[in-house]
Amino acid sequence: MSNDGVNKGRRRLLLGATSALGAVGAVGVAVPFVASWHPSAKARAAGAPARADVSKLEPGQQMIVEWRGRPVWIVRRSEEALASLAGQNDRLADPESNRAEQPDYIPKTPERALRPEYAVLIGICTHLGCSPTYRPEIAPSDLGENWLGGFFCPCHGSRFDLSGRVYRAQPAPTNLVIPPHAYLDDDTLIIGLDPEEV
Ligand code: FES
Repeated sequence: MSNDGVNKGRRRLLLGATSALGAVGAVGVAVPFVASWHPSAKARAAGAPARADVSKLEPGQQMIVEWRGRPVWIVRRSEEALASLAGQNDRLADPESNRAEQPDYIPKTPERALRPEYAVLIGICTHLGCSPTYRPEIAPSDLGENWLGGFFCPCHGSRFDLSGRVYRAQPAPTNLVIPPHAYLDDDTLIIGLDPEEV
């Protein structure tokens, strides 16, 4: 890959992070309200937790919040999308997330989630750090008939499923990272704290 390609990827990442500043960004779908705490400057410097109101997130929608300068994706998955995650093992590089960076309390199931309907992922490709694109459509012409919805990295073509699990033979070596997170209540997700801390 040329430097130009990598630089383009970095620009995309920067753009992605910039769009998340102010707590909201989106790819291709409507964006619901996202709130952030307003920590002190000192807490901010230390990487204060971020809060997201997921109550208005419809199935299929993605929201983006910023945490420690990185975009965190929250995707609400439909019943159909969750069903599609099972049976993918033969196509995935690490279907049980044994090499993945994720908290111990996240089940190593196809859903990789505290609550199956919500995927919570760091939106940075594990190859060289570009920001992949959320592509929830089934079998779009540019991604092929086997595409069941997921994330596509435009820099070097890595493909991930809707749980951020990387497919086999991709440039990205590992699944997308899951940040520490917990639910404060039915509607409120806290990113940056473990469940026992909320
Ligand atoms: S940065 Fe290379 S495939 Fe994503």
